[in-house]
Amino acid sequence: MCGVVGITGNENATKILVHGLEKLQYRGYDSAGIFVDDQAGSNFLVKTTGSIADLNEKITPEVQGTAGIGHTRWATHGGVTTENAHPQFSDDNRFYLVHNGVIENYQELKDEYLQDVKFHSQTDTEVIVQLVDKFSKEGLSTKDAFKKTISLLKNASYAFLLMDKEDPETLYVAKNKSPLLIGLGDHCNVVCSDSIAMLDVTNTFMEIQDGDVCIVKPDSVQVYDQAGELSERKHFEVNVDPSDSEKGTYPYYMLKEIDEQPNVMRKLAKEYLDENGKPVINDQLLKAMSQADRFYIVGAGTSYHAGLVGKKQLEALTGIPTEVHVASEFAYEKPLLSEKPFFIFLSQSGETADSRQVLVNVNAKKLPSLTITNVANSTLSREADFTLLLNAGPEISVASTKAYTAQIALEAIVAKAVGMSKGNQKATDFDLKYQLGLIATEMQSLVEEKEIINQVSKDYFVDAKQAFYIGRGVDYTVSLESALKLKEISYVHAEGFASGELKHGTIALIEEGTPVIGIITQDDTAGLTRSNLAETAARGAKTLAIAKKSLAKPEDTFVIADVDELLTPLLSVIPAQLLAYYTSLNKGLNVDLPRNLAKSVTVE
Ligand code: M6R
Repeated sequence: MCGVVGITGNENATKILVHGLEKLQYRGYDSAGIFVDDQAGSNFLVKTTGSIADLNEKITPEVQGTAGIGHTRWATHGGVTTENAHPQFSDDNRFYLVHNGVIENYQELKDEYLQDVKFHSQTDTEVIVQLVDKFSKEGLSTKDAFKKTISLLKNASYAFLLMDKEDPETLYVAKNKSPLLIGLGDHCNVVCSDSIAMLDVTNTFMEIQDGDVCIVKPDSVQVYDQAGELSERKHFEVNVDPSDSEKGTYPYYMLKEIDEQPNVMRKLAKEYLDENGKPVINDQLLKAMSQADRFYIVGAGTSYHAGLVGKKQLEALTGIPTEVHVASEFAYEKPLLSEKPFFIFLSQSGETADSRQVLVNVNAKKLPSLTITNVANSTLSREADFTLLLNAGPEISVASTKAYTAQIALEAIVAKAVGMSKGNQKATDFDLKYQLGLIATEMQSLVEEKEIINQVSKDYFVDAKQAFYIGRGVDYTVSLESALKLKEISYVHAEGFASGELKHGTIALIEEGTPVIGIITQDDTAGLTRSNLAETAARGAKTLAIAKKSLAKPEDTFVIADVDELLTPLLSVIPAQLLAYYTSLNKGLNVDLPRNLAKSVTVE
């Protein structure tokens, strides 16, 4: 995780860097720092623990420059202290470095090369900047010292931005595994982990690839590939309205993003279904998917949970067996793959390192793949054979909401398309256009139930130490997602459970007043989940239900419309998202930036 920014050739470097870091705070927010140089003999290093607002408070008016680098941190090596915040610097204060990633062999390098050097932090990053300094003292140019340092790294992930006080207009840049883009401006170039940070400067960006080392000056960018050859890299335009990533009048992004879901459903239907409701999906992608004998869905966190729903949709509408895997586990397993596997990567950010590692393995075996993501030109999008975009608009809050529902809707569209191309009657009859329209309307009613949900949050969750969501089949998958939402932003220990499994051990945890929410949307298992809910009530649980209208009882707290059973998660998750939101809010927590987390998880 962590976000990095750099700029050269602009007298407002400080302001632009700080603004860029604000936009990258979703990548980590435990500490931050900048280094700027005015090329007239003055330079400034400002670092702090805490947020970018805390950093801003420490930046005095004289901290100005024409070139600089900045960092927002999610700690890996070394605690959250000002010393461990980036930029890290060499002992002689000549070189400054920001880093997103992890250097696995940093201790070995320190022991072998830097025994006599004084260190100022506990970070793996400092080893890199001290090594550059050492090699430059031995006579290498900064570029060669940087390259030599990089050649010594083993199993490293990095996006590096290095500055040399003796040549302050140059940014030395390198990337492996961690995301990094170069933005091309007018007599000014920028570097950033995500284009969103620099859209005020430019919307033209250059992809840089793993192993590249780049020399960035105000009027030029040189890219050296892994073999050390000067190379050309593709440019692309980012057409995002910067105001899409503003909160507007909402107190938190999460609430805005929950409210945007009805529109996201409408947009997906418009984008991917024609006037007759037939999916509009690239022919080559359809061909590749139709030839598969097994789908492998890969994701992490919420995206993994969306994949669990996708499995049910794909199997029901295409008849092709589908496995769903947690990316961090699958990356290092030795799976027995089917003869014609097809991989589907689900990732809101398109940058999750765990998922990316699986894609690296898949590409090494030359197997076909699709990435479903919200971010065009993201790493997973660039490196998979095919991409489908969620087009949900930027998702800023750490807790994923609209990406989850968009992933489920798009998986359904893909499942219908593949099923139809295989002549599956159920897929042909599946009226997704009507269903998504109905769902958008029903979602709108659910998101308007804020006051009721706020009250339930106060009555059931704010003082709870633990909570359970239970369900069967597709409802179980929504239980997992609902529990993740609650724990990550409200810190209430919550579990999603297969309701039939509770009695095999976990029911021992139910105490007087423990909230247990049953999700009940599937006709054939509704009665069973009701019984399981009653079993917890008999042991003191305060029970609630999120039930489909035709299965609801008068006492049920949340009733959702009767929609196709493959799509009920699109509605049943909404009360759970709002319960998590209000519980966090009522506990006085920072809803969008929960402790210990980051939005884009770019380390394994
Ligand atoms: O960007 P991705 O969808 O690949 O991210 C995967 C997870 O890190 C993410 O869904 C995470 O679990 C969210 N914080 C959940 O709200």
